[in-house]
Amino acid sequence: MTPDAKLPPAERAAALRELLHYHAHRYYVLDEPEIPDAEYDRLFRELQALEDTNPDLRTPDSPTQRVLGKVLEGFAPVRHTVPMLSIRTETDTEATGAVNFDARVRRELGLAEGDPPVEYAAELKFDGLAISLRYEDGVLVRAATRGNGEVGEDVTQNIRTINQIPLRLKGVKPPVLEVRGEVYIRRDDFDKLNERQRELIAQGHKNEKTFVNPRNAAAGAVRQLDPAIAARRPLSFFAYGLGEVHGWEVPDTHSALLDALQAMGQPVSSDRAVVQGAEGLVDFHRRMGEKRDSLPFDIDGIVYKVNSRALQQRLGFVTREPRWAVAHKYPAQEQMTLLRDIDVQVGRTGKLTPVAKLQPVFVGGTTVSNATLHNQDEITRKDVRIGDTVVVRRAGDVIPEVVSVVLDQRPPEVAAGEPFDLYQKLGGKCPVCGSDVEREEGEVDWRCSGGLFCGAQRKQAILHFAGRRMMDIEGLGDKLVDQLVDAGIVRTLPELYRLGVAKLAALDRMADKSAQNLVAALEKSKQTTLGRFLFSLGIRHVGETTAKDLAKHFGRLDRVMDASVDQLLEVPDVGPIVANSIHTFFAQPHNREVVEQLRAVGISWEEHEGAAGAPRPQVEGVTGKTFVLTGTLPTLAREDAKERIEAAGGKVSGSVSKKTDYVVAGEEAGSKLTKAQELGIAVIDEAQLLKLLNG
Ligand code: IVH
Repeated sequence: MTPDAKLPPAERAAALRELLHYHAHRYYVLDEPEIPDAEYDRLFRELQALEDTNPDLRTPDSPTQRVLGKVLEGFAPVRHTVPMLSIRTETDTEATGAVNFDARVRRELGLAEGDPPVEYAAELKFDGLAISLRYEDGVLVRAATRGNGEVGEDVTQNIRTINQIPLRLKGVKPPVLEVRGEVYIRRDDFDKLNERQRELIAQGHKNEKTFVNPRNAAAGAVRQLDPAIAARRPLSFFAYGLGEVHGWEVPDTHSALLDALQAMGQPVSSDRAVVQGAEGLVDFHRRMGEKRDSLPFDIDGIVYKVNSRALQQRLGFVTREPRWAVAHKYPAQEQMTLLRDIDVQVGRTGKLTPVAKLQPVFVGGTTVSNATLHNQDEITRKDVRIGDTVVVRRAGDVIPEVVSVVLDQRPPEVAAGEPFDLYQKLGGKCPVCGSDVEREEGEVDWRCSGGLFCGAQRKQAILHFAGRRMMDIEGLGDKLVDQLVDAGIVRTLPELYRLGVAKLAALDRMADKSAQNLVAALEKSKQTTLGRFLFSLGIRHVGETTAKDLAKHFGRLDRVMDASVDQLLEVPDVGPIVANSIHTFFAQPHNREVVEQLRAVGISWEEHEGAAGAPRPQVEGVTGKTFVLTGTLPTLAREDAKERIEAAGGKVSGSVSKKTDYVVAGEEAGSKLTKAQELGIAVIDEAQLLKLLNG
């Protein structure tokens, strides 16, 4: 793996660069890492050290050179030798949009009705920001925005921080090759980004704001003058075309061009197809329309391109748009509508979330009548008032949200009124249980002070406890929890475990079989891990990662429960807010009582010494060993198996290599099993794994 240490430094640096490029491509572009992250980091540091002692070995395409820019005053202009054009948009979102485009192309090409269909390359229209990447002799030398199409801005510093973009092309090094494509932000990255922004705002960072949508956030990041900030924005990239080219033979078709770009290490979307005629276009548009919600990023339509480059050249351009391409839209993910009222929902921790009651509007493919407004601060910042026309956004399967107000459509009586005030609206009382609402110093959210007295909180607390990543009680869904809480059958978490089949089967719409299944699921859930148990308790500010960290650090529940704030602060990533929250939680006698009762009904996990106490006992045969899991195990979910191996001091890796000690294979194990057999690595089943884990 590691290049021979006896090689001269220059050759070693080159070999390391090569290896790091290879693995970065597998990780960021193919999403198929071959080596553990730690190994990548080790190679990276080795190259860094080598470059530190021999600065002249530092090349512009070295992976160590991604983040190195200074804060700029402004961006330098870049003239595009080949202009960055836009494409005509077909706003007719129905099939006719595609049919019309094909008819135009056929007419322009002088094709008669009986002539064969035209071949098209159909691909997604990514909703981001167009970028031109200039590679000279195979090395990325400049990245520019589209600007007005003729002159853009030099954003090289920021674009270099995007790990998906190769700093060096694979396999080719033509004198000039400009790759064009779209920089975008994935939806999950966008949600995390906004979550972080909301936290910053809550902590009093007045200059921070949340982003309206991934496209705006991506555009903002690319045009960020401080590359360190840009590097923290989770940008992604897809290549879809070419700019200036010298010394490289451009393939004859667009589809072959995309294949070539992919082979050079550029990320190219796999959702693309070569299709025949209008029928093929309509079919692709429909198929992707169905897939749109489950894609990890936003698209606003499909792009059709005549596949043959010769035909593209024959078709040419009208004004600034090619006749050979068109964008065929989908229904928009943002729409304007009337905000009729604001309701308030009570969450698990008593958090009061304002919910917009909207005049129903068709957005992102469905009719939306409710959307979240997040909290009072967001309402204040956007100055959202009942009676306003607002912009609603719904992308993918995320909760629709109100992103802004259309101020010039505000009716005079609304303008003359007061800004919306959640506290006033509620008259200071929880809408579910009537307890006082309160807001702590520096917090953005109003909360119901009723705790588990509040039916809404009790329900959410139970649902959280039962969640898949918590106690994983299958079959305990929201309908059932509503019934159990409303009928007064379950008031506390331990009471869940005292439900018998008879009591459950007596509920409305509950079959005997389902009752038995639920009792079995409850029984199964009793065997858990400390991390899951801590997470399931719903302690404020304690998410899955913090819960795991606590379990790892303290090893035993009593240590966590009795920890002082200072001791809690010793846990990695635990700050004062989290530490106080945990301490306060376990300082409440009723919470300790709930924990005792849960242990009394039989909930258990393996306890160990943890990092805070004496050194952990080493589990013979697991500690320091690397495991790879493949296929479906008979009883353990993959997450559980991973957790247990890690708790016992082992490592779990995503791919099989010579460093793998054991491959744990379940049903339908695939290529990893084959690879293990090829490399002669021990293959074990779940039972053997459990035996190892149990010492
Ligand atoms: S091709 C000459 N392909 O949509 C054709 N554009 O107006 C140049 N876009 O600014 C564009 N996905 O930012 C092309 N698969 C795709 C695209 C795409 C998104 C953007 C691009 C351009 C705009 C078209």
